[in-house]
Amino acid sequence: MVAGIRVSTLLSLGLFMVITGTTGLYVDEENPYKTGALPVQNFTLTETKDHVPRHAVVYYPARPGLFAVLLFSGGFDGAVRVEMGYTDLLSRVAAHGFVVMGVDLQSLGQAGDTRRDNLQGSPAHSLPGSPAHTFLQQMDWARTNLNSYLANRTAGVSVDWENTGVFCHSAGCSVILDTVLLNHTAMKATAFLEPFTSALSGNSTVSFRLPALMYGTQFCEDFPFCCVKGMDWNHVYDHWSCPKTTLATKNQGHCDILDHTMWEICHTTHFCKTGDVDNWAEYHTFIQGFVSAFFISTLQGVDDWRYLHNVTDIPIGVMNAKNDTNC
Ligand SMILES: *[C@@H]1O[C@H](CO)[C@@H](O)[C@H](O)[C@H]1NC(C)=O
Ligand SMILES: *[C@@H]1O[C@H](CO)[C@@H](O)[C@H](O)[C@H]1NC(C)=O
Ligand SMILES: *[C@@H]1O[C@H](CO)[C@@H](O)[C@H](O)[C@H]1NC(C)=O
Ligand SMILES: *[C@@H]1O[C@H](CO)[C@@H](O)[C@H](O)[C@H]1NC(C)=O
Ligand SMILES: *[C@@H]1O[C@H](CO)[C@@H](O)[C@H](O)[C@H]1NC(C)=O
Ligand SMILES: *[C@@H]1O[C@H](CO)[C@@H](O)[C@H](O)[C@H]1NC(C)=O
Repeated sequence: MVAGIRVSTLLSLGLFMVITGTTGLYVDEENPYKTGALPVQNFTLTETKDHVPRHAVVYYPARPGLFAVLLFSGGFDGAVRVEMGYTDLLSRVAAHGFVVMGVDLQSLGQAGDTRRDNLQGSPAHSLPGSPAHTFLQQMDWARTNLNSYLANRTAGVSVDWENTGVFCHSAGCSVILDTVLLNHTAMKATAFLEPFTSALSGNSTVSFRLPALMYGTQFCEDFPFCCVKGMDWNHVYDHWSCPKTTLATKNQGHCDILDHTMWEICHTTHFCKTGDVDNWAEYHTFIQGFVSAFFISTLQGVDDWRYLHNVTDIPIGVMNAKNDTNC
């Protein structure tokens, strides 16, 4: 009897480990709009100490496992570094089973790298030495080095480069879109949060297939115009191939995604029109879940887009939404 229990316990334990993928890719099967289950830690990479192309913060699940990997670029002309503006978003996405590298593209203080140039529709962004090339170099650096950095911090943590995603906010999306256009085989999915980009201006379209998420907020297109019609999420959606999905939320603005202190600065200076402060925590719970839902579907292999497509499952006011996933 006792032996019998032992054998079956061992068997089900073995089965459990196969199913939950202790040796395979980590899969989050919970509702992504809840806080992710994994404990998250971070470390910083610098140009001088680590010889990484750009300063970056890495958030990782501090629990043994194989994880999909995301690289992120923020906005506001580089004025808002990852550690000032995006720590809440990136760390909470990591808790759903991702190693997330937030890249400070302007950390070397290059003038006019992204947004202003792009207002003129400059094609200079895909030239050698451009931010998009730098971003690809950052990815190369990470492919070579990141796993040993992770293993040295928490034994057993590693990244599966077969499941790489990129995402961005605001003018950071100008760089990410150029990066994707330079080499779309370097990633398996991409998300554009309130993008600002002229890369698909005119009638140019994306012909290759790469799952994409486009996201906007109601106040972003209002004065002082932190999103620009013709260069924003609707435009990227219209010029993308399949599969793709887009959503815009009500009563939110371009700065609401930021950490609370940066949000406050944006709010008091009226840099962009912001949503209600009482809503900040609720909004952050939504946006971390929304981004996670997309990458869980596309990178962790849970082929279920319900948390993106079924408005009753989305815990915030939706202004409009569209999708095209029947490719
Ligand atoms: C990294 O983690 C520490 C400890 O949790 C935290 O105090 C710090 O703010 C985090 N740094 C960033 C840039 O998120
Ligand atoms: C990891 O630790 C080993 C042994 O201490 C060390 O030789 C190596 O340089 C470390 N690697 C990184 C990327 O920190
Ligand atoms: C695109 O990126 C992948 C992954 O880094 C690499 O293997 C491939 O050679 C790159 N392709 C081009 C055209 O640079
Ligand atoms: C884009 O295509 C539309 C319809 O095909 C056409 O009317 C328009 O002139 C084109 N615009 C540009 C900038 O080529
Ligand atoms: C959307 O979600 C609601 C509540 O979870 C469910 O009742 C409904 O059937 C779902 N609709 C679709 C189209 O899946
Ligand atoms: C996604 O597309 C399906 C099928 O067209 C539609 O029923 C659903 O409402 C769409 N959901 C969103 C959020 O756009």
